[in-house]
Amino acid sequence: MRSLRSGFSPASLLTGAATLATLGALLVAAPAAQAADTPLRDLAAAKGKAIGTAVTGSKLTGTYGDIAGAQFNWLTPGNAMKWETVEPSRGTYNWAEADQIVAFAQAHNQQVRGHTLVWHSQNPDWLENGTWTPAELSTLLQDHISTEVTRYKGRLAAWDVVNEPFNEDGTYRSTLWYNGLGADYIAQALTWARAADPSAKLYINDYNVEGVNAKSTALYNLVKSLKERGVPIDGVGLQAHLILGQVPATFQQNIQRFADLGVDVAITELDIRMQLPAIEAKLTQQAADYKAVLDACVAVTGCSGVTVWGFTDSDSWIPDVFEGYGAATPYDENYVPKPAYHAIATALGGTTTPPTGACTATYGVTSQWNTGFTGQVRIACSGAALSAWRVSWSFGAGQRITQAWNATCTQTGTAVSCANASYNGTVTNGGSVTFGFNGAWSGTNPVPAVTLG
Ligand code: G3I
Repeated sequence: MRSLRSGFSPASLLTGAATLATLGALLVAAPAAQAADTPLRDLAAAKGKAIGTAVTGSKLTGTYGDIAGAQFNWLTPGNAMKWETVEPSRGTYNWAEADQIVAFAQAHNQQVRGHTLVWHSQNPDWLENGTWTPAELSTLLQDHISTEVTRYKGRLAAWDVVNEPFNEDGTYRSTLWYNGLGADYIAQALTWARAADPSAKLYINDYNVEGVNAKSTALYNLVKSLKERGVPIDGVGLQAHLILGQVPATFQQNIQRFADLGVDVAITELDIRMQLPAIEAKLTQQAADYKAVLDACVAVTGCSGVTVWGFTDSDSWIPDVFEGYGAATPYDENYVPKPAYHAIATALGGTTTPPTGACTATYGVTSQWNTGFTGQVRIACSGAALSAWRVSWSFGAGQRITQAWNATCTQTGTAVSCANASYNGTVTNGGSVTFGFNGAWSGTNPVPAVTLG
């Protein structure tokens, strides 16, 4: 699976003035070639589906902003609309990041999923630590919902009104809201949200409800009873914070049973975490898992689409919360699309095929004088990783290695073989390792084709 790329043209027989910047500039051209693929949002639109991402407002510039705008047709503010963000002290509102994200979405013809109005987490201290009568709590919640939903009235396509109301066994989670107001806080919240913006679709959103299990059945029963009571409920969000290789077998069946209740189903927070390092076999499994999730949504008419919880590994909550885990999103930390990205595209009907070979070795001459030269080999991975490496080549013009660093090199006749040192065998997905050497030459010093294996 590893492709080999030998370095430079003969024109890069560089003299002492040669710079590593030149080397880097040539290397970064590779991922950009993939940008010609049809954007995910176009593929999704052709299938009538949403493809979304959670975003951080402060990052919406440069490459992050370019990808968020070009590839996705829905955005969810990752934290910007949560209560602790919008009302950190009582009566003092901060809408800056939420406003920014909504403006970005409008400028890029994207829909926004508001997230989230009623939750047990990320509430401001003044609210969590206050002592409230049920009547006060009810007023606080109604005011919060009315204020926030009204601010974005007509501009948000959907709201995660209630987030994570259930325990794993299907009982109601003990929260400020449940303990103070009883289970009907959910119906009240939905009713207040509808009153504030009749055009937004109103969702209940939870995790570990992707397959058929006690928790998803509790959610199912709740939605069924809300519908029967005439409480405004338009959709369920299945968050889908999944673990590598563990897409539930009943995923599609579960989506279908909710759809059969007459509500939309959205996959709202998809990520698939793995234990690091993100070696190639895991990234391949992850691609299969992403495809299984997308396939299930595409297969059910009532599944409105899929949102990933951050599109790049550089903007993911996973490493902060699950020690030793990460690489959960479709792009690596350097914005290089991973196999998971290509799997999403394929599931949405795209014809793009992932590039074969995700680790490359690039040879360059960084300086050269009358009898000697300094060479460098850079091993870089995107969409794959290595735990050990060896780079080989043949010197066709009688060159000889005299000294190497950051690798152990041997030369037999024309054949050179350089293996990693004890400390630099690991090349992470999106990372690179460089080793160097001095050599002797006479006559010509052509660049050899190198083999990474
Ligand atoms: O903004 C502060 C920063 O100023 C400070 O220096 C830093 C120090 O820790 O913290 C920053 O805040 C963090 C915030 O994310 C923004 O990055 C919080 O500590 C951190 O707890 C918070 O985590 C968020 C998490 O919800 C909280 O539960 C994640 O970003 C966010 O992705 C995650 O999203 C949730 C969904 O809303 C609901 N479903 C589960 C999902 C994952 O937990």
